[in-house]
Amino acid sequence: MDFSIKTIDAKTSLASVKAGCIVVAVYENKKLSSQAQSLDLKGAITAAIKSGDISGKAGRTLMLRKLEGVAAERVLLVGVGSNEVVTERDYSSAVEASLRALAPLGSSDAVLTLTQLEVKGRDTNWAVKTAVTAGQAQEYSTEFLKSKKENEATALKKLTLTVASSKAATSAKAAIAQALALANGIALAKELGDLAPNVVTPTYLGNLAKKLGKEHKLEIEVLERKQIEALKMGSFLAVAQGSDEPPRFIVMKHMGGKPKDAPVVLVGKGITFDSGGISLKPGAGMDEMKYDMGGAASVFGTMRAITEMGLKMNVIGVVATCENMPSGRATRPGDIVTSMSGQTIEILNTDAEGRLILADALTYVERFNPAAVIDIATLTGACVVSLGSHTSGLFTRHDEAHDSLANDLLAAGVEAGDVAWRMPLFDIYQEQMKSNFADIPNMGTPGAGSIIAACFLERFTRKYTWAHLDVAGTAWKTSPKGATGRPVGLLTSYLQKRAG
Ligand code: BES
Ligand code: MN
Ligand code: ZN
Repeated sequence: MDFSIKTIDAKTSLASVKAGCIVVAVYENKKLSSQAQSLDLKGAITAAIKSGDISGKAGRTLMLRKLEGVAAERVLLVGVGSNEVVTERDYSSAVEASLRALAPLGSSDAVLTLTQLEVKGRDTNWAVKTAVTAGQAQEYSTEFLKSKKENEATALKKLTLTVASSKAATSAKAAIAQALALANGIALAKELGDLAPNVVTPTYLGNLAKKLGKEHKLEIEVLERKQIEALKMGSFLAVAQGSDEPPRFIVMKHMGGKPKDAPVVLVGKGITFDSGGISLKPGAGMDEMKYDMGGAASVFGTMRAITEMGLKMNVIGVVATCENMPSGRATRPGDIVTSMSGQTIEILNTDAEGRLILADALTYVERFNPAAVIDIATLTGACVVSLGSHTSGLFTRHDEAHDSLANDLLAAGVEAGDVAWRMPLFDIYQEQMKSNFADIPNMGTPGAGSIIAACFLERFTRKYTWAHLDVAGTAWKTSPKGATGRPVGLLTSYLQKRAG
């Protein structure tokens, strides 16, 4: 979809704007937004509201055609709730409802004036960004391999967003460019998640990294099994060894800052399918474990977004990727392996594999002398129990007084509408993880499963500033099934803020 900005101030009349459709807001108390008023030349909009055809509840729509005195062919009324200062949620649902109503029309262009509404706590650029991301999200389809598509593609090709002044127009144009880069990153993360696990293999992800490296300015390194062995990543290899698919260790460098600037490093869990291994998962819903590379997908998506934005800072994306499968070569419960860090690990449950591959990835990234390391993983079912599907779990030992990492990530989540909540990482939890035979077991005693997993990772991150995002509940949704592209929004916002 093409997006553009148009200034509608006191001098320009909305009624004379030629378009397939103009979208204007109405409120629940039967009041018209000022944009709706300027199209209500003969009282047709007032009449429609009076008749009860549209309530003004956020997301309700009513299409009107050929209004007298209005140059546009159609006018779409959309409800934005009861407050003249619109809430964030009402704004978003009104934008999404407008796009849904526009999609099946014969018209290929529309003008959206909702961007001129006042949204509580947000500015015009936010309204523009939200409209662009929603427009791009509507173009995304999960029907990759359906012989007959159920949802016809939208005819809408051009969406014009209005703002109140030419000064606002300048910054809104920049906001469009940023939002498009972010939307491309989110779309990539969604696609990687949704594609079948026999397509998105570790080899596929390695090749994708090389392709991204050529298209964008990224330095790429893709390590294969021999090189991973040479690095002594015994913990990562233990997970990979049950599968016929070879593992990959992927490094993507966006060096947009000064060469000597310490990078922010993102580390993604890339289990392309998690069967549980010998500690096999139950059959019901096992297909969803294709999403167990959601952390890796968010690293790919974020790298794409920031390179397209030309972010002026150094960011390194690292992905450890393999399959977790049962076989005669697979790791057994009870096996003890030596991680790259030298710490020995007793694998009590082969289904706790994410932390095993991350342990070595987190050791590997020490070499970058990172300013901060953030790992992203669909790590624990327990995180879904605690936080459900709306909020990612954030873990870090760095408290505000010394380091603002936790607060910065939480704020970035709020900014992007991709929220996280901080969980505790108190030392005392480490006592739930003791092995009689190795330095550490890969599973603790019952209770606090997502914290125990984070405590395990913590032991491999003591040389730098680190945070962990558990996205088991947020990276995909179950009904209808689909990847969400989270937390690309949170990560991109964080990096943008950090880049200044
Ligand atoms: N990939 C799963 C976590 C998961 C489960 C994500 C359900 C989303 C939904 C992870 O590898 C796993 O299996 N974790 C185990 C750990 C346990 C064996 C200590 C879990 O959460 O049950
Ligand atoms: Mn698992
Ligand atoms: Zn897993």
